[in-house]
Amino acid sequence: MFVKYLLPAFVAISSVAAQSATCTVSTTTIKSQAEATKLASCKTVKGTVVLGSESGATVDISGPKEITGDLIVENNGMLQSFQSSSLETIGGKFGLNNVTLLGSLQFPKLTSANAVEWVSLTRLDNLALGPLSKADDIRISDTFLESLDAFALTSVGKFKIDNNGRLTKYSSQLTSLSGELIIQANGLDLEVDMPKLAWIANMAIANVTKFTVPALKVVNGSARFDSNLFETFSAPNLTNTETGDISFVGNGFLKNMTFPRLTEIAGGLLIANNTGLDRVTFFPKLSKVSGAVKLRGNFSAVEFPALENVKGAFDVSSTGDIKASCEKLSEFAPKNQNGNGKIQGVFTCTANNDKANEDTDGSTSDSGQVDGTDGSGKGDDKNSAAGVVLNAALFGLVAVAGLASAL
Ligand SMILES: *[C@@H]1O[C@H](CO)[C@@H](O)[C@H](O)[C@H]1NC(C)=O
Ligand SMILES: *[C@@H]1O[C@H](CO)[C@@H](O)[C@H](O)[C@H]1NC(C)=O
Ligand SMILES: *[C@@H]1O[C@H](CO)[C@@H](O)[C@H](O)[C@H]1NC(C)=O
Ligand SMILES: *[C@@H]1O[C@H](CO)[C@@H](O)[C@H](O)[C@H]1NC(C)=O
Ligand SMILES: *[C@@H]1O[C@H](CO)[C@@H](O)[C@H](O)[C@H]1NC(C)=O
Ligand SMILES: *[C@@H]1O[C@H](CO)[C@@H](O)[C@H](O)[C@H]1NC(C)=O
Ligand SMILES: *[C@@H]1O[C@H](CO)[C@@H](O)[C@H](O)[C@H]1NC(C)=O
Repeated sequence: MFVKYLLPAFVAISSVAAQSATCTVSTTTIKSQAEATKLASCKTVKGTVVLGSESGATVDISGPKEITGDLIVENNGMLQSFQSSSLETIGGKFGLNNVTLLGSLQFPKLTSANAVEWVSLTRLDNLALGPLSKADDIRISDTFLESLDAFALTSVGKFKIDNNGRLTKYSSQLTSLSGELIIQANGLDLEVDMPKLAWIANMAIANVTKFTVPALKVVNGSARFDSNLFETFSAPNLTNTETGDISFVGNGFLKNMTFPRLTEIAGGLLIANNTGLDRVTFFPKLSKVSGAVKLRGNFSAVEFPALENVKGAFDVSSTGDIKASCEKLSEFAPKNQNGNGKIQGVFTCTANNDKANEDTDGSTSDSGQVDGTDGSGKGDDKNSAAGVVLNAALFGLVAVAGLASAL
């Protein structure tokens, strides 16, 4: 894939370097510190620089301020320390993959890269960047990092942080994120604070003990929260999702949530198997849901005081006695279920269902019965296999919603 013999490339570099500080390489593979030093006279390296797997333990690529292509190290079991005291910009990707002895990465001037993709850097704990303030796509997976302070972005496209077992705190200055934020399987005590985040396309957050988004106003796509450890979740400023779902599944410690301003969910709402959550009474203003609503849990009360329009099914089932809530909610049922029609899909509400927590997927019951209101709606849940992939489940919500409203 990469240029095998670097000699021609370096001949080109040294002959050009004398007159111009721009060195053109299409792809050059550096195999030793001596070869790295040949780049020192280049101010700009036009092309991609690959550090070969036989690089030695320490490589310093100081000299260039810019690499217009990628800077790549892959499958390198020797490199322990990699640095540049001059590099400010990487036009392409800063890719480090399977560099298992790398402990120190020092790029104190680096502020901009199109993408950062660091995977399997299992010893990396000593990191310095500019800090990095500009990047479009960041993935940090399976590192030994304890802190992400070297990243100081205010906006980014995609951001994935996963399997960093030592990461226990991340406070971000992000104000907007145009792609997807994925945080999962990091240190079990990871606390995430996003004090300035106001607009996000999608997010999938798992296994965190805290997640704060005090300024979040709009989720353009979906927000998913799975298997988190937090007891409360609050979205004080969230007004709506513009195309996607909101889901909370298997957050075993969750006791309370607050969504004081949420008026519209453009997709579905799924709340399931959050066994400590004993009520769903925190949507005081939610009036419109364009997908389906599916709620499963140990609830004693379910209230949607402002509901005006649910395009899909509305399907609630609880281990607890929610008969009174079912009765109240049944007022919104479709006309063919003797309600006022604010819910357009099938309305189902089941109390005292021992198995309510076992159903965490996004599909809804196809039963047209309003079970809970007669007090005998026990165990008619069609439990699907555990571990259904959430993505599919969420899209399922919308699909089922469409189906239900076509009935
Ligand atoms: C990781 O790199 C080492 C060399 O350091 C190599 O032997 C190993 O096969 C690589 N692992 C993967 C999954 O590519
Ligand atoms: C982390 O979250 C995932 C869901 O994304 C879940 O399957 C997994 O069990 C969780 N791990 C722990 C240790 O909670
Ligand atoms: C929440 O929204 C209000 C009104 O738009 C705004 O004044 C306030 O600063 C926002 N809160 C945060 C934490 O951004
Ligand atoms: C919001 O999401 C929709 C659907 O994915 C997309 O068409 C639209 O461009 C997004 N809005 C912005 C501002 O990115
Ligand atoms: C429900 O959540 C618990 C953890 O709180 C988990 O052990 C169980 O497997 C989950 N059940 C389903 C059906 O996802
Ligand atoms: C949930 O949190 C809100 C806001 O902090 C609070 O007003 C409410 O009493 C809490 N509800 C429960 C059941 O703890
Ligand atoms: C939730 O309900 C299940 C089934 O009734 C029960 O086994 C479990 O203890 C309940 N969990 C909590 C936290 O109330």
